[in-house]
Amino acid sequence: MKEGVNLDKEIDESRQGEATMIASEGSKTAKKLYVESYGCAMNFADSEVVASIMSQNGYTTTGDVEEADVVLINTCSIRENAESSVRKRLTNFKKRKQRQPELIVGILGCMAERLKKNLLEEEKLVDLVVGPDAYRDLPGLITEVEGGQKAVNVLLSRDETYADIAPIRLDKNGVSSFVSITRGCDNMCSFCVVPFTRGRERSRDPETIYNECATLFEQGYREVTLLGQNVDSYRWNMTSKGEIKDETKPTTNFAQLMESVASISPDLRIRFSTSHPKDMTDEVLEIIAKHENICNYIHLPIQSGNSEVLKRMNRGYTREWYLERIESINRIIPNCAISTDIITGFCDETEEEFQDTLSIMREVKWDFAYMYKYSERPKTLAERRFEDNVPEKVKGARLTEIINIQQENSLEVNKRQIGQVHKVLVESFSKRSEDDFAGRNDQNTTVIFPKGNFGKCDYVLMKIKTCTAATLQGEVVDVLKPST
Ligand code: 5AD
Ligand code: SF4
Repeated sequence: MKEGVNLDKEIDESRQGEATMIASEGSKTAKKLYVESYGCAMNFADSEVVASIMSQNGYTTTGDVEEADVVLINTCSIRENAESSVRKRLTNFKKRKQRQPELIVGILGCMAERLKKNLLEEEKLVDLVVGPDAYRDLPGLITEVEGGQKAVNVLLSRDETYADIAPIRLDKNGVSSFVSITRGCDNMCSFCVVPFTRGRERSRDPETIYNECATLFEQGYREVTLLGQNVDSYRWNMTSKGEIKDETKPTTNFAQLMESVASISPDLRIRFSTSHPKDMTDEVLEIIAKHENICNYIHLPIQSGNSEVLKRMNRGYTREWYLERIESINRIIPNCAISTDIITGFCDETEEEFQDTLSIMREVKWDFAYMYKYSERPKTLAERRFEDNVPEKVKGARLTEIINIQQENSLEVNKRQIGQVHKVLVESFSKRSEDDFAGRNDQNTTVIFPKGNFGKCDYVLMKIKTCTAATLQGEVVDVLKPST
């Protein structure tokens, strides 16, 4: 049984924690950079910032690791198994360096921040360790490594947002892109390592976000996903208490930011992730309802259905509060899909508390869910305060029960779509056959359909014919003309 499961969606959500190689082609003369990213969408977006910084310093990116002069691995620390897969990969590169000593191998992201010099000194796995706020330093640090030294910069910053850097798009899909709007997290959920690895929360200048999205649209992209650990706490020129910092300048909250990005074109779809139940306001919901191109889909992690567990997790809301937020979504945005994250086996989780997670799953019936066994992370509040005392076997059995209920819920939600007509953005070939295309509907469910007289980036109207728990299948009934 895989940990961190969602129901095998046709188009991968990078946030599942699977390793995905990203790259773009480069010229023959410049030095070549190969970047590999693990973990959340934020890491994938960061790798594009890294590619941009490196390209300004004479590097081109390559998809062929064999021809790389520099290999950078952008890592994730969220669960222990995410770190183990990176360690395995680094061990491979260590072997490769024995036959190619001039190859530079660097580690970026959360593991770099968490393990700091250990990877350089004790484990001797890499040449370079660079934390999430130090990417501007990469070219200089690589020069140090070329000069025979090991190099490290894991300083976290209170204001770095890479706002001025135009990311180089590495995935080649050309339809859908991530755009970071905040960095870091101030929430201190007790199980989570992110506040330690990505530092304090800060918001990015809204003008640079607007410009990045507008440029993507001009380049042909038709979907942007605004990214932050907690998008609802996005604020510009405001303190966390809502006080204005500079009276002479405008302020922007998340609802206003979305509204501005939505105004770029009705043909640009806006998605966003992740929403936080304690901070998601009705104002945001009303903006989603008002704009056809802001997708009716909210990822709203609950983590547990029991208020005592939520308290130990330091999530800042109760089961009742979460259910009230769901009611508001359903009232303000009829037909909104909602997904969630669930952790089972958190410290001291009793059978009764676990049953509350199962009962809320039956009550809310999320469209899909990312489901995890609790994995203790060093330095977190939970590691310091509580014991990781739910036996592995119990965690596994509880996860299986959760997955089974989610499977039923997803199938039920998808069956209800049969016979309905959905607007779908054409994204790629289906994974299973080049005779079929795949795309997503407004609610973020993947739809598979036979190829026709249309291509990537087109919007099509699709009549849903059949489904599984993970995907819908349909037939195109109309190809929509661009609005602009
Ligand atoms: N163990 C298991 N799952 C975790 N997550 C975060 N930290 C942990 C942990 N220590 C999950 C949460 C979060 C998602 C991104 O990862 O559900 O929402
Ligand atoms: Fe981690 Fe909580 Fe911040 Fe999400 S909101 S990154 S779970 S601390």
